[in-house]
Amino acid sequence: MMRTCTNGELRAAHIGQQVTLVGWVSKRRNFGQLVFIDLRDRYGITQIVFNESLTEAIKDVRNEYILQVSGEVVKRQDPNLKMATGEIEVAVKTVKILNSANTTPLIIADETDALEEVRLKYRYLDLRRPVVQQKFILRHQINRSIRKYLDERDFVEVETPILTRSTPEGARDYLVPSRIHEGQFYALPQSPQLFKQLLMISGLERYYQIARCFRDEDLRADRQMEFTQVDIETSFLSQDELLKLMEGMMASVMKEFKGIDLPLPFVRLTFAQAMNTYGSDKPDIRFELKLTDVSEIFKNSEFSVFSTAFKNQGVIKALCVPGLANASRKQTDKYADEAKKNGAKGLVVLKVTGGALEGSAAKFFSAEESKALLAALKASDNDLILMAAGQWEPTCNALGAVRSYLGSEQGLYDKETFAFLWVTEFPMLEYNEEDKRFYARHHPFTRPMDEDVQYLDSDPARVRAYAYDMVLNGYELGGGSLRIYDQKMQTKMFELLGFSEEQIKARFGFFIEAFQYGTPPHGGIAFGLDRIAMLLTGSESLRDVIAFPKNAAAKCPMSEAPSSVEESQLAELHIKVTQ
Ligand code: AMO
Repeated sequence: MMRTCTNGELRAAHIGQQVTLVGWVSKRRNFGQLVFIDLRDRYGITQIVFNESLTEAIKDVRNEYILQVSGEVVKRQDPNLKMATGEIEVAVKTVKILNSANTTPLIIADETDALEEVRLKYRYLDLRRPVVQQKFILRHQINRSIRKYLDERDFVEVETPILTRSTPEGARDYLVPSRIHEGQFYALPQSPQLFKQLLMISGLERYYQIARCFRDEDLRADRQMEFTQVDIETSFLSQDELLKLMEGMMASVMKEFKGIDLPLPFVRLTFAQAMNTYGSDKPDIRFELKLTDVSEIFKNSEFSVFSTAFKNQGVIKALCVPGLANASRKQTDKYADEAKKNGAKGLVVLKVTGGALEGSAAKFFSAEESKALLAALKASDNDLILMAAGQWEPTCNALGAVRSYLGSEQGLYDKETFAFLWVTEFPMLEYNEEDKRFYARHHPFTRPMDEDVQYLDSDPARVRAYAYDMVLNGYELGGGSLRIYDQKMQTKMFELLGFSEEQIKARFGFFIEAFQYGTPPHGGIAFGLDRIAMLLTGSESLRDVIAFPKNAAAKCPMSEAPSSVEESQLAELHIKVTQ
C-alpha cells in the first residue's frame, strides 16, 4: 500500500496508530534537532516530525518534494485548531523521497500574489493550490448532481458531433478544414441545437448532454471561446412545465451545495418588465434601485434632449439613488461613462438639495417638471438623480448598466444571496439598423407566441416568443425556447430573417427535411455550466473554474495554442497561408 490514510484524515482518536502517508512538502521548518514538515495531498495537510536520526536523510528535501513516510500518530504539544488535523502530528520512523522538485514559479498555497498570466502558464501548479482544487471538486459535484436529477426524471444523455456544420447561434464559427474533401470545412458546434431537436423528431422525448460548445467571440470574464453547456431538450411539455422542471434542478443543486432552500416558483418577469424596471434582460434583483419612466413629464420640455427623445418615440428614464448627492465629480463621471458605453448619448446628473434640483440640466426644467419629477421618484434631500433619454432599449440598458455599477460600488447587495429569476416573453426578432434587416434574438427555430403570430407580417418587431432565460445575480445562467414544429411557420421565419431558398437549403436543408416526418411539439434550454460553477464557487471569472482556460487574448499561456503548423500539414489540408 502506498498509504494507509490521507493527509486530511487523522484526528485525536487516531493517536497511537501506525500510519503511512504520502504527499507534497508544503512547508519545512527546522527546530534545533527536529524538522517539521507540512505534508499535503488533495485531502488536506498533516504535520510530520522528523527526529535527529532522520535529518540527514531529508537534508535536501524542499517544498514540493514528494515523500512517503511511516510513523506513529502522536498528540501535538500545541494544537492548531485552525487545521482539521491540528490536534495530532505523525512522528516519522521511516521516510522515502518519492520525487524531488525544482523551485516552483508560484507558491503553492491558498493565498497567492502570482499574476494570472503566470498562474495560467503553470496551471498544473496553480491547480495544486487547495482553494483552486476545491473549485474543481465542486464543479464535478455539480455535474454529478445535475446528472442525477435529470436521470431520475427519465432524461437520456446523448452525445452529438463535434465536427459538424455551422449551427444557428449566430456567433462566428470555428472551422476545421477537411483533408479528404478539398476546400470544405467542418464547423465546431456553437451548441448541439439542431441535433437535440432532431433527437426529439427521433422520439427520445427527454434528452440532455453536458456538451462542449465553441464560439469565436470576444472574450469577457463570463465568456470563453470554448465552454460547457448543460444542454436539454424535451417533447410534449408546456413552457410552464419545462420551467418548473428546470428551476427544480437549480433548487436541488442549491440545496445540495449551499444548503439553501430556494423559494419556488422562481420570480418571473417578462422581458418588458425586466427592462423597464431594472434596465436589463438579466437583472440583478438582490437590490431594489428601480428605474422610473418619466417620459410624460418631459414631453414638452425646453430641455431638447428630453423633448426630442419623446418626439422620436423614445423614452426618458430616471434612477434615484437615496443619499448619494455627495457623490464626487469623479464618481458621477464614471456613471456617465458607464451609461455611454451601454448605449446612452449622455447622462443627466442632478442632486436634490433644499427640495430643489441642482445640476447643469436643472435650469431647463420648469417648476412643474421639477416638482413632478421629485414626486415620481419619491426623491428627497441628498438624493442623486440620474437620467437618460433616447430609444427605449438602449436607454433602459444604459441606466441598467449604471444601476449595476452602483450596486457594486455602493455595496447594495449581500454577496451570499442567490437571487434567481426567469425572464420570459423575449421579442422574437431584433432589428439591425446597419444591415437593415431582422435577426433572430434567440435563434431561428424559436416559436412565436400564439397571440402575436398575427403581427408577423404587419409588425414583426412586436412579436414575442416562447423564449426564456434563467438569471442569477445579474448573469444569464441559461436560455432556451419552445421550438417551431410547424413547417410552414419555419419557412415563414426564415423568410422574415431574409434567408434565400438556397441559403436555407445550404445551411439547414437536412433539418428542414426532418421536419416533414412528424415533428413533436418540443422545447429546451441550455445552461452555462461554467457560469453555474463560477457563481457557486464565488469566483470572479470563468477562467477560475475551467481547468485549462484561454486568457483574455484567446491564447493558452501554457500550451501556447494557437500555434503555427508545418507547411506539410497545411499542404495536406489544401491550405495556403498568405500574409
Ligand atoms: P445560448 O446561446 O443562450 O443558447 O447559450 C446558453 C447558455 O450558455 C452560456 N454561454 C456561454 N458561457 C460561456 N462562454 C460563452 N461564450 C457562452 N455563450 C453562452 C450562457 C447561456 O445562457 N442552443 C441554445 C439553447 C436552447 O435554445 O436550448 C443556446 O446555445 O450561460
